[in-house]
Amino acid sequence: MIQLSVHPGSEATAAAVADLIADRVALAQSARGVAHVSLAGGTTPRRAYELLAARLADRERIAWWFGDERCVPPDDPESNYRLVSESLIAGGISPARVHRIRGEDPPAHAADAYAGDLARDVPTDADGVPMLDVALLGLGEDGHTASLFPGDPALGIKDVWAVPVVAVKPPPNRITLTLPVLRAARDVIILATGAGKRDAVARVLAGPDPATPASLLADANVTLVLDEAAAR
Ligand code: 6PG
Repeated sequence: MIQLSVHPGSEATAAAVADLIADRVALAQSARGVAHVSLAGGTTPRRAYELLAARLADRERIAWWFGDERCVPPDDPESNYRLVSESLIAGGISPARVHRIRGEDPPAHAADAYAGDLARDVPTDADGVPMLDVALLGLGEDGHTASLFPGDPALGIKDVWAVPVVAVKPPPNRITLTLPVLRAARDVIILATGAGKRDAVARVLAGPDPATPASLLADANVTLVLDEAAAR
């Protein structure tokens, strides 16, 4: 099921995402003690991360994960960890609570290690799939999300939680969470802003299609948070 949440401009959209995550974190903390939240990379979520820390009543009982990472060192300008470090962590989140994907390691090794961390630390659903409380995702103009790109064999993986991929979007070598983990999240939040994302948004809403990986989450509990330019 996909719910739409449309906002006037990128600042209001960033604030709406920060509010939604903070709300879901509080719910998870009161229900289960610790909230598990996976974060998106790319450029769009930076402002939401800058706003988020101040909205969190309890910053301690949260485990932060990543939906994907580029295979670069954590201080590289292309690193999703660096994005989070300069925004969310800079906003007052302890780095010790952030489970980063070791992009500097050999990709297969880093993916295995991350899948192991997820299996060890994140409570599972009835099928044994790690069940995040919130999975925040971006959306590429080609309909990719995390680092799950159209036509990638990784879309068919059922029983491994994190895998290396070679993407069309630079930098090519990446590690991504797989569809079963993203689908199992209690709340999937897909954030997209700007007219450039309009076509991809329409394809996500048109129903599940492997040519639009983000649409394969349609059977999950999805909130599509958009600015007006992406929604029109
Ligand atoms: C990544 C992301 C990726 C991103 C989309 C949108 O590491 O590249 O996780 O899935 O969310 O490509 O990127 P922008 O926000 O930069 O448009």
